[in-house]
Amino acid sequence: MMIDTPVAMKIIAKNEESPDVFTLTLQFMEEKETGYDFQPGQFNMLYLFGVGEVPISILAHGEDNSLYAHTIRRVGRVTQGLSLLKIGDCVGLRGPFGRGWPLDKAQGKDVLIVTGGLGCAPSVSIIHHILKHRERYGRLIILQGVKHSDDLIFRKQYQEWAQLPNVQVALAADISQPNWPGHTGLITELLDQVHLDLSKTLCMMCGPEGMMRATAERLTQLQLPEDAIYLSLERNMECAIGHCGHCQFGGTFICKEGPVFNYPEVKFLLSQRGF
Ligand SMILES: Cc1cc2nc3c(=O)[nH]c(=O)nc-3n(C[C@H](O)[C@H](O)[C@H](O)COP(=O)(O)OP(=O)(O)OC[C@H]3O[C@@H](n4cnc5c(N)ncnc54)[C@H](O)[C@@H]3O)c2cc1C
Ligand code: FES
Repeated sequence: MMIDTPVAMKIIAKNEESPDVFTLTLQFMEEKETGYDFQPGQFNMLYLFGVGEVPISILAHGEDNSLYAHTIRRVGRVTQGLSLLKIGDCVGLRGPFGRGWPLDKAQGKDVLIVTGGLGCAPSVSIIHHILKHRERYGRLIILQGVKHSDDLIFRKQYQEWAQLPNVQVALAADISQPNWPGHTGLITELLDQVHLDLSKTLCMMCGPEGMMRATAERLTQLQLPEDAIYLSLERNMECAIGHCGHCQFGGTFICKEGPVFNYPEVKFLLSQRGF
């Protein structure tokens, strides 16, 4: 079920992930909304009452399917305001919107997840889905890159995922502290360090566009077919339903046709400055 007019959600947990990133876990206040469901990769519009709405990826279900987490970076008006809310306060929510990750197409394949910065947030729901339906997928390879090793969030989760059978986790930081357990350098360099069987791999990426472009180029050099690469794009949004044009990327409306795209669908525009 999709909610097209904002409904009030209660903040039932708030975690500070880093000095500028926090996670709000939300719960419906009214019983009748519990038919809401989402696909990994979709997003909600979160409404800070009286200020405005922002698109935010949906992180994970709660145990009883009624809790929805959103990991948010404070960047401007709405996200700063959301960061000031406390447990028990309310936000508006409509959604879910957009096209999610191709989890059906990934069945029977190894799944390579490549994320940069806060791009790790939309990948958590993929990882939860694969771990829940482990028999449907092959190896899970999770690569995460950050600018500085101190920027890494979800440290504990990465450590836990790395312990699981058939899961490999590798981290990269452009600049690192001496105790950094990962690679110091670009995330694309990790592609040459982890074991990949690109004849049966599907890649899902989320992060800065330059990082995704470079990763897609390196993977295709390594002979991964272009149509085995998916990426999630971000643009400013207003309506989230394909009406206002704020999210246009060339002739594509990211809110409706994305945010997840197959690489050949957006390869040309990704290589053009200004889109
Ligand atoms: C599909 C989708 C999923 C997203 N998921 C998340 C998420 O899980 N967590 C998260 O923290 N953010 C996410 N974002 C980005 C988030 O929506 C923006 O950071 C937010 O809209 C900024 O609003 P603001 O009012 O706080 O800042 P504003 O006052 O609007 O702007 C502050 C600065 O951020 C820039 N900005 C605004 N919106 C965007 C955008 N969409 N992309 C890039 N730069 C932008 C502005 O140009 C300006 O420089 C997502 C965006 C999209 C489109
Ligand atoms: S946000 Fe309005 S058309 Fe996409």
